[in-house]
Amino acid sequence: MKVLAVLGSPRRSKNTAKLLNNYLDELQMKFEEAEITQIFVGDGSISPCMGCSTCKTSSEKKCVIDDDMQKYYPEILECDILVLATPVYWFNMTTQLKSFIDRFYAFDYSKLSSQKKVVLLTTFGAADKVLSGAINIENSITGITQFLKLDFVHHIGVTAVDVTLAGINTMLSKKIDEIVS
Ligand SMILES: Cc1cc2nc3c(=O)[nH]c(=O)nc-3n(C[C@H](O)[C@H](O)[C@H](O)COP(=O)(O)O)c2cc1C
Repeated sequence: MKVLAVLGSPRRSKNTAKLLNNYLDELQMKFEEAEITQIFVGDGSISPCMGCSTCKTSSEKKCVIDDDMQKYYPEILECDILVLATPVYWFNMTTQLKSFIDRFYAFDYSKLSSQKKVVLLTTFGAADKVLSGAINIENSITGITQFLKLDFVHHIGVTAVDVTLAGINTMLSKKIDEIVS
């Protein structure tokens, strides 16, 4: 089982990174055979889609932007579980994660397996998913996964305070049970 985990926070070791690392630790414990690859897009290294549509119209059917996304395309295609982690920024995902997802436009959607599972992890300052706007990210990922025919397993949204609470791993572990290998 291949897991591709994407950190969309610009802060490499803060709330969202902690939640993601705890989630991946629990996942690895449950699925010992899991091969986990973590990528960091929070530094803005993934350029936004330019909407040129060359990926749709050229004979190569390839995105023309020469950045790390070229390396990530095959990893996205091959993974069984795609974990997307982002802090809430102004009631939405970070620009950096959005740029990563926008570049999915270059995929031949029929090559994305419907067996692929998608997990969303969010952290936020407000009290819950609704007040923080994390619900908007959940709605986006619901639409995207329905369109791409992927299996959206769960959204775990945690306040910045709760990220370091004792017991968070127990909660994550129970949620991971929703993933049936
Ligand atoms: C630019 C910016 C916008 C934010 N917008 C929201 C928001 O709309 N709702 C919310 O609850 N928290 C918001 N926050 C708080 C962050 O989501 C929260 O502190 C998060 O845990 C930070 O994650 P990180 O430690 O990975 O950077 C915002 C923070 C920043 C810097």
